[in-house]
Amino acid sequence: MVTGASSGIGAATARVLAADGAAVVLAARRADRLDALRTEIKAEGGLALPLPTDVTDRAAVDVLVSTALEWYGRIDILVNNAGVMLLSPVAKRDVDEWDRMIDVNIRGLLHCTAAVLPTMLEQRSGHIVNVGSVAGRRPFPGGTVYSATKFAVRAISAGLRNELSPAQSIRVTDIEPGVVDTELPDHITDEQTRRGLEQRWGDRMKLRAEDIARAIHYAVTQPQHVNVNELLVRPTQQET
Ligand SMILES: NC(=O)c1ccc[n+]([C@@H]2O[C@H](COP(=O)([O-])OP(=O)(O)OC[C@H]3O[C@@H](n4cnc5c(N)ncnc54)[C@H](OP(=O)(O)O)[C@@H]3O)[C@@H](O)[C@H]2O)c1
Repeated sequence: MVTGASSGIGAATARVLAADGAAVVLAARRADRLDALRTEIKAEGGLALPLPTDVTDRAAVDVLVSTALEWYGRIDILVNNAGVMLLSPVAKRDVDEWDRMIDVNIRGLLHCTAAVLPTMLEQRSGHIVNVGSVAGRRPFPGGTVYSATKFAVRAISAGLRNELSPAQSIRVTDIEPGVVDTELPDHITDEQTRRGLEQRWGDRMKLRAEDIARAIHYAVTQPQHVNVNELLVRPTQQET
């Protein structure tokens, strides 16, 4: 099950996992994008089930998981990838956007985790992959609240691993990408921050969504006794 599968890292991850034989459940809000991806995966001989879902809606997430279980009978991997990055200076007090990031990046991730847990606990196996960010290690100007949500993803990943890996055989991985070329910055409403971001990056080469999809594939295809805790992947041209 991949959340945020309608674009960027989520769509690339769904493609990579489906190509390796996983039956993928595609979750995000844009149904047309999910349908198109299902068609593409099917044409390649893969299995995909599009289930339009807003991860901030807890009841909708419960329906997502129960529908997935009706179709496939089990859930082996949850990729908590849905996220938004609405950057702006804190002094601007875009509190609605702060709330939005907290709702999607933290609450959404927790809703999906809670919904799959009974199944994984019963299976005594499962893998939860949380897509954090290098921003989860250091805040940057304009990214204070985004960064806070990704610090939370790191804390949640470590906590889940503590509670679930040794005792329940459920593995937990935090994927921390650097700059990836996706739609993520397109939703930034603060014009100055968005332009500043573009200018600072210049023409350096960003990661492609597929680069992170391969990191996720690596983490979830290790033997059961291997728990890939964290993977931090930056573009070669990104400073540390
Ligand atoms: N791009 C980067 O540089 C970068 C770096 C580090 C970490 N990340 C993280 O990578 C993850 C994926 O981002 P991306 O770069 O691939 O950007 P993206 O192309 O904008 O993808 C974001 C995905 O999240 C989904 N989403 C947003 N709100 C949602 C909601 N309420 N319910 C369900 N799905 C929702 C979007 O789908 P719908 O709009 O269709 O719902 C979309 O599929 C995010 O967690 C992001 O923070 C990205």
